[in-house]
Amino acid sequence: MPGIPLRNGGPAARIAVIPGDGIGAEVTPQAVNVLRAVTAPARRPLEFVEFDWSAEKYLREGVSLPPRAVEMLRDEFDAILFGALGDPRVPSNRHAADILLGLRFKLDLYVNARPVELLHDRLTPLRDRTEKDIRLMVFRENTEGLYVGVGGFFKKGTPDEIAVQEDVNSRKGVERIIRYAFEYARQNGLKRVCMSDKSNAMNFAHDLWQRVFKEARQEYVSIDSRHLYIDTLAMEIVRDPSQFDVIVTCNLFGDIISDLGAQLAGGLGLAPSANIHPGKTSLFEPVHGSAPHIAGKGVANPFGSVLSSAMMLEFLGWKPEAAALRTAVRAALRENHVTPDLGGEKRTVEVGDWLAIKSVEALAHQR
Ligand code: NAD
Ligand code: IPM
Ligand code: MN
Repeated sequence: MPGIPLRNGGPAARIAVIPGDGIGAEVTPQAVNVLRAVTAPARRPLEFVEFDWSAEKYLREGVSLPPRAVEMLRDEFDAILFGALGDPRVPSNRHAADILLGLRFKLDLYVNARPVELLHDRLTPLRDRTEKDIRLMVFRENTEGLYVGVGGFFKKGTPDEIAVQEDVNSRKGVERIIRYAFEYARQNGLKRVCMSDKSNAMNFAHDLWQRVFKEARQEYVSIDSRHLYIDTLAMEIVRDPSQFDVIVTCNLFGDIISDLGAQLAGGLGLAPSANIHPGKTSLFEPVHGSAPHIAGKGVANPFGSVLSSAMMLEFLGWKPEAAALRTAVRAALRENHVTPDLGGEKRTVEVGDWLAIKSVEALAHQR
């Protein structure tokens, strides 16, 4: 998948590690081990500082995102490696909203880049599709839409109850993600950008998306830009994923279409993502959640976290190391050195240890 932008390309980098809940706490340490291994030969250390923000801490201390955490991350760290949040003991998901959505909003990480890339032909559930057919980038708006938490209840708990959830779309917010998608396509030689909305039903919010898209596309005449309603996109991406290079959409639709895309490429176990504000402290996390029913069993797939780490390395200017992580994941798939979700028998730690060794080998090979 073509690259994501540089943070600063400086020599050393400080990384905040937030493993979180469930399998987040199992896959993240594996990614950190792989990162330590692949960056060790460069003698430009990456520094990792771990934070225990999780359901456990929230239940114990009542603290979700600690005071001044956002400022600390913004000022003292280059990137955040995040696991997952979600715990059956916190049915409201309050801590996840405070921490994950809190960081996306407060660090203004407006680009949620979620590549969909088939890394081995056998992984797709689609018939007769191969690696060359499934290689696209989903850009999900990440700071507004239906996620902002504006709304309320009226007559809660009565038969006349009303619940309102506002969809907040600013011209600035819509414009920057649409322009980012076009720029990404242009800079990476990709020819097709598809904007997806539901403007046939959402006649205010997505009317704005339509107008902004029409304005922006005029500046990118060499790119084949099109629009699809989100329901049609969901159908088309399954029918023929090869017709897409770049998809740009709103927060909620991006959430849904990225899980759909993940499954086309083998499942949530290996889908990575980057939450970016170009040039500023950004957050990298697998697309999957805390998967409570497999948590603690040692079988979670660490590929999503490792591939998110590769996106983080690119962002920090470690291109060969990022490529080495991807090479190692491809090798694991080829040799079936994988966890049960991909039909293998390996455990999380076995896959992590193997990737650490193979990525160092891959790096040496590139030189
Ligand atoms: P999930 O992603 O946790 O799990 C969905 C399915 O995919 C499950 O069958 C799970 O076993 C499988 N799966 C996901 N990641 C896997 C991996 N690495 N290896 C093997 N199998 C994997 O989604 P869910 O079950 O809807 O949500 C569980 C909790 O996670 C909820 O509390 C939800 O809110 C939260 N969540 C958090 C994030 C995040 O922190 N970014 C993302 C999605 C869901
Ligand atoms: C994701 C998750 C989150 C989202 C949840 C946990 C709030 O599903 O990162 O895709 O909807 O953004
Ligand atoms: Mn999601």
